[in-house]
Formats: sequence, structure tokens, C-alpha cells
Amino acid sequence: MNDPLLFRRTMGRFPTGVTVVTTRDADGRPWGMTANSFTSVSLTPPLISLCIDRRAGSFSAFSGCRTFGVSILGEHQQDLAVRFATPLDDKFTGLATREDHPGAILMSGSAATLVCSVHTRVDIGDHVMLVGAVQECTLGPSAPLGYCDGSFFTPNGGTAPDGVDTPLNETRPGRQILVGWLVEYESRILLSRDRATGTWRLPVGPLQAGPTMSEALIGTSRAVMGQVIEPEFLYSAIDLSKSETCHVYRARPSVVPRQTPDLRLFAEGDIPWADLSHSSMEVILRRYFEERVSDRFGIFLNLGAGRIAKIEHESPWTDDHAGEYERSAS
Ligand SMILES: Cc1cc2nc3c(=O)[nH]c(=O)nc-3n(C[C@H](O)[C@H](O)[C@H](O)COP(=O)(O)O)c2cc1C
Repeated sequence: MNDPLLFRRTMGRFPTGVTVVTTRDADGRPWGMTANSFTSVSLTPPLISLCIDRRAGSFSAFSGCRTFGVSILGEHQQDLAVRFATPLDDKFTGLATREDHPGAILMSGSAATLVCSVHTRVDIGDHVMLVGAVQECTLGPSAPLGYCDGSFFTPNGGTAPDGVDTPLNETRPGRQILVGWLVEYESRILLSRDRATGTWRLPVGPLQAGPTMSEALIGTSRAVMGQVIEPEFLYSAIDLSKSETCHVYRARPSVVPRQTPDLRLFAEGDIPWADLSHSSMEVILRRYFEERVSDRFGIFLNLGAGRIAKIEHESPWTDDHAGEYERSAS
């Protein structure tokens, strides 16, 4: 077997939960990453394992740590899953966490948390398996978040399990609205790679909180792409899964967007069409390249039964219509 992508996609068919695993390095700096390789290893003694990619920025911190924390994310914590799967300089500022055992930084409101001391480290292939001796377990208020085929899902159907009180300040929407970014720079489109499946897609993440929609979108661009990108207009609404709808904004930054190995600009001819995460990503990209030739865009809806609706005629956001809202509203 010498087909890494097929292997990744095959493993992606196996539904898992989603954890954020954290530690501190020798200088006390906090590190954390999203991990779904978490699994239980032994009941007596209680042992768990995680596999850490050698290429991860946090790899050396996990290679040297003695204590680490595991937060099994709740269904409302997809934003944390995205944040900790993105190589950002600071993933922790502004988060509600607790750290009773130094190095085990736990996310508040998780489905469950564990504090572990390192039992064994095993070099395996391109990962290191970290076996943790469980020192403490805590059950939290939330139903768990799931991950399968490159998408998040709510195994519990978006409702809390029986007998668990939902904190009043938590919302439990049946659908998650995500924001996608169609960022074009010099005829190239920014795509992000999901390391777990190896597939590419438009950068996507949950809408961040903000006093205005515009600021929420800017905050989302920072969380998803690690940089501020101003949205230009809403281009599409698509269903990514049974529980996720993605609103895709077009953006054309004036400076070259920051790129990483997992966030890259692709010319049309270089798009990895066979390795896109969802067929709807291909639909969006193909239509976009078609429409940008004439610089006239429709708004596409690919919801539920796969409907694609094109708004014909002149694009409503041209300057001719500037101020129309104010006029009609007054
Ligand atoms: C759902 C999901 C599960 C992941 N599981 C793992 C994992 O088990 N091990 C791993 O090394 N990376 C995993 N990743 C990728 C890391 O979260 C990602 O590479 C992250 O950028 C690592 O952060 P760092 O570079 O700051 O260390 C996963 C990503 C996602 C979205």
C-alpha cells in the first residue's frame, strides 16, 4: 500500500471525538493542538494515548513535557477545534480555561477533561505516540463533538444527553453556521489543507463573536487564516454536512495573504481537484473561475437537495445601487 491520501481518507471514515491536548514547555509557554488520535489504552492502570505529528509546531513541547491535559470537546466547541488545529502564535488568549495541575490546561465547558502524566513515548513512523497515565478525570456539561470524513458533526443531534443540564449561557443550535473564505490574490485562490484527511478546501471556520457582523467576520478571518482579511461580498451558501451550513465570502486582499504549508494560493490549473474535501467545494471553485472571466457573479445556494440557484442579470452590489438601502429605509 503506497497511497497516503487513500489511507488518510479511509481512516477519515472512522468517526471520532475531538480533543484539545495541551501542555507547557520548559519556559512555561502554553502549547495546544486539536487531536482525534486520542484513545483509551488500559483500564487498570488507566492509560490513554495520543499520536503527535513530528511536523506540528507543538511537537517539541509534547516531546519534553511531563504533564499534559486533554479536553474532550463539546458539540458547541467547534471553534476551539479549528483554533487549535491552526498553527497560530497564540491560541490561548481570551479562552476560559483552568489549570489545577501545571501544564494541563483544560478548556471550560468541555464534554470531559483528563489530566495525564507521561507514561511512555514511542517513536512510530512520522508521529510520536504519547501514552498518558490518567491522574484525574472530570465529566463536563456538554454532549461531545464528533469528526468524520473531514467534517465536524454532533453525535447527539445537537441536544444535551438526558440528565445533563444545559448551562443557560450555552446555545445549542441544530445547525452550525460556518464562514468560508474565497480569497483571490493575483488570480490565485487560497486553499487550506486538513492535515487529518490531507484534503484541501476553502478556509472555513465558525463565525466569531463581535459587536458588528463586519467585526465578527474580521475576527473569523483571523481565527481561520491567522490574518485579517476584509470580506467583499457574500458569494455562496452551501451545506457541508447534515449539521453545517457554510456562508462563503469573496475577498481580494491588496497584499499577498500569509501562506503556510497548509494554507496556500493555487492558480486555477494547480487546484488539487481530486483532493478537495467536499464536492460542493469543487462546485464553488469551478463556477467562480467561470464567472470571474466576465467579473459578473451570481449567488449560489447549494442547500439540502443540492439546489444551485443563480441570480441572473446585473450584480446587485455594483456602485449603481450604492445608497439604495439608505434611500429605501428612510
Ligand atoms: C479533527 C482534527 C484532528 C486532528 N488530530 C491530530 C492528531 O491526532 N495528531 C496530530 O499530530 N495532529 C492532528 N491534527 C492536526 C493538528 O491539530 C494541526 O496540525 C495543528 O496545527 C497542530 O498545531 P501546532 O502546529 O501549533 O502544534 C488534527 C486536526 C483536526 C482538525
